[in-house]
Amino acid sequence: MAGFARKLVRQIRIDGVAGVLAKVPLWLRGHCEARLDRRLGIATVGQVEVADSALLEPGHDHLANAVFYAPLQFAKFRRLIRAARPFDPEQYTFIDYGAGKGRALVLASGLGFRRVVGIELFDSLCRHARRNLDAVAARDPAAARIELLCMDAALYRPPAGDLFCYFYNPFDDVVMRQVLAHLEAADASAARRILIAYSNPVHAGVFDSAGFLRLHHSSDGLRIYRNRRH
Ligand SMILES: C[S@@+](CC[C@H](N)C(=O)[O-])C[C@H]1O[C@@H](n2cnc3c(N)ncnc32)[C@H](O)[C@@H]1O
Repeated sequence: MAGFARKLVRQIRIDGVAGVLAKVPLWLRGHCEARLDRRLGIATVGQVEVADSALLEPGHDHLANAVFYAPLQFAKFRRLIRAARPFDPEQYTFIDYGAGKGRALVLASGLGFRRVVGIELFDSLCRHARRNLDAVAARDPAAARIELLCMDAALYRPPAGDLFCYFYNPFDDVVMRQVLAHLEAADASAARRILIAYSNPVHAGVFDSAGFLRLHHSSDGLRIYRNRRH
């Protein structure tokens, strides 16, 4: 407690009372996110810059198109799943394009998706995700089935069956167009349902202009699409 008081006084000296009060919601959110992580036995909070990942792995084709790692807040993920309804998770393969440290994979596995697949460009993040998935799998056998692919999402071809494609602003429109081309081919190849949930949809124009999709939901920071066969 004395340590906390000391830190508070030091922070007030730096930012002033108003500055400290303005930071309270952020601190509370960080605290809450870390607590939910601990409850699941995973470590996914924090941000990892592309430049830091690229220092260790400079050879990727789409480095310049990548967005940094940060996990989607737990509450926002729950909201996204609600907005995508109605759908039956047991019928769908959940795919996280840009899976980072694996938070969404763990949450999707807990929701009973038929199959859960994560695609992540950087080995360093994949290794972190693998540790999280192993920790969850030690308690929950369903999590042992989560598939993690360390590869460029632009090259990934989705599996057969109904697809729930999740994006948390992982890359720019160049990679997004390549991903979309694979999804369009998947739509044309078989009668199946495709759901696309795009949080922080910076490049929504790519999906908005795709003829095989229709907009199912749009709100601040979230767009959900379904294929027209849906
Ligand atoms: C904003 S984070 C999203 C993290 C995760 N989906 C979540 O909700 O917790 C974006 C992630 O996309 C990854 N990424 C960027 N470009 C990629 C690509 N071409 N292929 C696969 N992953 C990529 C980044 O390394 C980063 O981990």
